[in-house]
Amino acid sequence: EANTFQNLIGHAKEYGYIFQSSEIYDGLSAVYDYGQNGAQLKKNIRDAWWKTMTQLNDNIVGIDAAIFMHPTTWKASGHVDSFSDPMIDNKDSNKRYRVDHLIEAHAEKLKAEGETQKADALIAQMDRLLAADDLAGVKQLIIDNNMKCSVSSTCNWTDVRQFNLMFSTELGSVTDEASTIYLRPETAQGIFVNFLNVQKTGRMKIPFGIAQTGKAFRNEIVARQFIFRMREFEQMEMQFFIRPGSQKEWYEHWKTERLKWHKEIMGFPTDRLQYHDHVKLAHYADAAVDIEFEFPFGFKELEGIHSRTDYDLGRHQEFSKKKQQYFDTEINQNYVPYVIETSVGLDRLVLATLANAYAEEKWTKEDGSEDSRVVLKIPANLAPTKLAVLPLTKKDGLPDLARELMNECRPAFNCFYEEKDTIGKRYRRMDAVGTPFCVTIDHQTKEDGTVTIRYRDTMTQERIHLNEVKAKVLAAITK
Ligand code: GAP
Repeated sequence: EANTFQNLIGHAKEYGYIFQSSEIYDGLSAVYDYGQNGAQLKKNIRDAWWKTMTQLNDNIVGIDAAIFMHPTTWKASGHVDSFSDPMIDNKDSNKRYRVDHLIEAHAEKLKAEGETQKADALIAQMDRLLAADDLAGVKQLIIDNNMKCSVSSTCNWTDVRQFNLMFSTELGSVTDEASTIYLRPETAQGIFVNFLNVQKTGRMKIPFGIAQTGKAFRNEIVARQFIFRMREFEQMEMQFFIRPGSQKEWYEHWKTERLKWHKEIMGFPTDRLQYHDHVKLAHYADAAVDIEFEFPFGFKELEGIHSRTDYDLGRHQEFSKKKQQYFDTEINQNYVPYVIETSVGLDRLVLATLANAYAEEKWTKEDGSEDSRVVLKIPANLAPTKLAVLPLTKKDGLPDLARELMNECRPAFNCFYEEKDTIGKRYRRMDAVGTPFCVTIDHQTKEDGTVTIRYRDTMTQERIHLNEVKAKVLAAITK
């Protein structure tokens, strides 16, 4: 499996999906660039989410708030004081670890050695200590279990301490306390501070939602697993404003809706998705669950659904001294709304899509010889390119016919034209990039207007008329 994951990373680079950032300078840790196919895949996923949220719901609207926000925002939200991870440094190796990752890695090692019970007990103990903020206890746990210590050396750990994950910079040219601003660590706060702007100008009635997609930044210490944990990433968040007391019902609603979306729109199989309830709740939540996806390195968080109470709006009311209230005409009451949040990482969705789509296939042909291919079975609604148009030869007017089909289809969806190489090679390349449909224009096309359409996933082909192509592809990509 680890091998397949490495192959997937190589494949993502080779076919223009994901590159290391600033690769010619040997890269920047936990920062990645999207290439020509990755950027389109990411956009298609973002568009699918945006459509589900804003177009298919009466009562959810989208905004686009700035990355920079007034610094008091992050005091009010709790991020200045609480958005930190407990870290420990190994003085021998000069390496810094997030303690939960260090302990989880040790538990994995125990499991691999057949010590499953010991591993589970270790994780349970860590959860208890972290929930109680017992950092000295966590250090002791690391020492007692002899983590990351060689037999010969004694362990030389620093104390466990909290490390804030926000990046800061200065606004303007004068460096002083007041000019320090942060790169947002979540997009959600841009929604909270605009709650009244949107509610009033949109004449929104509770319950209603505000959706947003955009970059977020976190100075993650353990940067690993490709685009799973990045320092610069993109979130897609929706805050759903509700009447206090209705949070249980709406929490269940969004929990169900979001899982359904991952299955129906993203095409993830049911057995690769699961819920995971939070043991330790974030500083703002009264209930929280993750939707986990089975990545090549195990089930890991894809999306969080959080019942955030009136914490954020209440804190912004307190810090800004501006009322963040709603007058509910149905019950004749003024209140600070409660919030259910859905928050999904766009980059994680890209990784999950690639992991789910990637297949190395081998089979025996009718003549007994072996054949193989690498294919990305990306669902047609998300694939970067929908249709490849391939004239069998470069002569006899076939390219002209192909160009005509391109011109007909490209206003409706992304098409790709290719006339070089054998048709077999061209099919393989389209498989590897993840293009769901190939149409080949041949000499028969000139006679009766029919073409061969070839399906990526099954490699089957059929003969259809030129004027059926566009409608056929459109039907497959519309969700
Ligand atoms: N507003 C709530 C919030 O930000 P979170 O659980 O910290 O909650 C939500 O983040 C989602 O953002 C995660 O489920 C994950 O998909 C994505 N995410 C968080 N940190 C990330 C990182 N360093 N790299 C990539 N995606 C990340």
